[in-house]
Amino acid sequence: MRWRNAILAGVGLVALAAPVSAKVTAPAGAKVFRLDGGGVTYAMGVDEKGYLQPLYWGSALAAGDPLISGDPVKTGDPIVLKAPGELSGFDPAGSVTLQEYPGQGEGLVSEPGVKALFADGNRDLVLKYRSHKVSGETLTVELADIRRPLFVTLTYTIDPATGIVARSARVRNGDARPVRVDQLAAAVLSLPVGDDYRLHYLTGRHAAEWTQKTVPIEAAATVLESRRGSTGHGNNPWFAIGREGLTSEEHGPVWYGALAWSGSFRISVGSDNLGRVRIAGGYNPYDFSWTLKPGETLDTPVFYAGYSGDGLGGASRTFHQFEVAHILPHGTKARLRPVLYNSWEATAFDVTEAGQMALAEKAAKIGVERFVVDDGWFGARNNDKAGLGDWTVNPTKFPNGLKPLIDRVKGLGMDFGLWVEPEMVNVDSDLYRAHPDWVMNFPDRPRTEGRNQLVLNLARTDVRDHLLGVLDKLVSENDIAFLKWDYNRNWTEAGWPEQPVADQQRVYVEYVRNLYYILSELRRRHPKLEIEACSGGGGRVDLGIIGLTDEVWPSDNTDPADRLTIQDGFTRAYPVAVMMAWVTDSPNWANTRVTSLDYRFLSSMQGGLGIGANLDKWADADFATARKWVAAYKTIRETVQRGSLYRLESPTGDNATSATMYVGQDKRQAVLFQMLHSSMWRDNPAAIHAQGLDPVRVYSVRNARRLGAARGRACAGRRGRTG
Ligand code: GLA
Repeated sequence: MRWRNAILAGVGLVALAAPVSAKVTAPAGAKVFRLDGGGVTYAMGVDEKGYLQPLYWGSALAAGDPLISGDPVKTGDPIVLKAPGELSGFDPAGSVTLQEYPGQGEGLVSEPGVKALFADGNRDLVLKYRSHKVSGETLTVELADIRRPLFVTLTYTIDPATGIVARSARVRNGDARPVRVDQLAAAVLSLPVGDDYRLHYLTGRHAAEWTQKTVPIEAAATVLESRRGSTGHGNNPWFAIGREGLTSEEHGPVWYGALAWSGSFRISVGSDNLGRVRIAGGYNPYDFSWTLKPGETLDTPVFYAGYSGDGLGGASRTFHQFEVAHILPHGTKARLRPVLYNSWEATAFDVTEAGQMALAEKAAKIGVERFVVDDGWFGARNNDKAGLGDWTVNPTKFPNGLKPLIDRVKGLGMDFGLWVEPEMVNVDSDLYRAHPDWVMNFPDRPRTEGRNQLVLNLARTDVRDHLLGVLDKLVSENDIAFLKWDYNRNWTEAGWPEQPVADQQRVYVEYVRNLYYILSELRRRHPKLEIEACSGGGGRVDLGIIGLTDEVWPSDNTDPADRLTIQDGFTRAYPVAVMMAWVTDSPNWANTRVTSLDYRFLSSMQGGLGIGANLDKWADADFATARKWVAAYKTIRETVQRGSLYRLESPTGDNATSATMYVGQDKRQAVLFQMLHSSMWRDNPAAIHAQGLDPVRVYSVRNARRLGAARGRACAGRRGRTG
């Protein structure tokens, strides 16, 4: 799509260099920057007054294409981008000029990239182009305030395969006095004027994560945010934008993005005073400031931004491809997720050596590859009132330590995993008794407990080093292949009293940085260790944590029908490669729904398969059913976890069924699940059509339980009816 807004139209701006092979172009003397890759072009330019203006973000332009429609295209014209004047007394030039990353100043009325307070009380910040550098696929552009030595460096890296642009910002105080940063975005993104944009986002709460919402983009901005200290269950830091009537699951333009940050964040989406869409995302300014000392810098997390012309399905497939290749710690070489057993729903805190061994033996018989002991193995942990913080094995439950259990698990051909919640402490714990000052707090104020626990202040280096030491010891002394890393409450009194007052709100950034440090250092010391990110289910799922873990737990809600909706929402943003799904008992704890074991398996087989049922209560027939499905899963898991996902029928809305299809990378295998979801009046489900198959291949249909005519038959890969 071309820029069509009145303010920019008619300006004589052309890209002079042909970016045929180059991914990033910035012709000498011409201040126009183009990032080309993966079928996408992203462009910006410096105008006659020195502002950096966004020019284009969408499907790939040809080398000589004008960046603004309606402009006189004469290759060789000097590139001069006009800066608009004021539109009215209410819309001064500073609020009319569309800026790639504006400072809060000169009458800006949309979201700034950065807002600052100088030592003398000045709050006016006007950023203009200063310099740039191109290095491979990365462009950096330095902006500076018109009067003060405050600098912002914007970094852009385009992925040649997907066209996804990784954006971040660094602010530097070059002044001799401190400057307080009150707001800092990783990126501000823009789309031309239009009244048909629709914002898709993901929201929810504990056990109801990944609910999909679609709202019009209007002057009343939609703010996706967390004020909780961590990503939270409320809004996920992901968005997608389509156009009404043009964008569907299969077709049409989609602009999307996600912030790689596991702390409080804010992404605002709305149209500005001239109707142009502005998307700004970064640290949440709520309760946040960072006073930059002279010479100090503050970096933002990375905001990834992509474009697809192939609808919401195309956008998520491209994003999944990018996430697997560039975000997962081992990239495309990451192991496929092993079939896991977790004891939580079976035994809760009632964990004993004998009980876990008995479960392990049963789990091994059905083909489980990883046995995980959940909460309850450590300290004085007999319920959720005590023990968090004391990461030593409970001597009553495991008189000989974990070794006998781990040996048994390994002898049964499985590897061993353990639940931890390192960032938390119960007041009733040895750690809290020794270090009551280690939790976030405001002196002489209440310390609000959540699930009877307080949050350790990871921003403190002594707390960080203690946790790293404890975890390192645990993993070094025991043969542990996997940690389920949980995080079960939000922040309340987020105080850091040991710091000077001006630096206390750094806790929002330093905490998350130290969490990332512990995770990455633990991985460095134990390269084979795998980690699952969990936060009361899906309360901390984002590209920051996914970059340091191997899988995530999307929700504590394990009802297999609810889970279809959860998985449908989750995969809008994140890849199946990390999405765990357990088979648990029926009726389900979350909603008392009764489902067959077959249904539960088929729902969970759409992600990384796990089993969390109480195997002590299973009948022989249940074990036989489980063995059958676990064996079947192993024949399809590479396709499910690494293939391309087509959401043929979403379980949202009025659809009676949910249908997902996974096509292997080499397109030799495809897997289609169609599950009854919200049927009324014995609906006869509508026909579904396979997608993504190789049109010249002939596929044989296997294990089709209800595919009627297609069963046992060979089917051509071209688009057509499958059942
Ligand atoms: C959280 C997790 C659960 C389980 C419990 C243990 O709620 O999401 O899966 O690990 O904690 O206390």
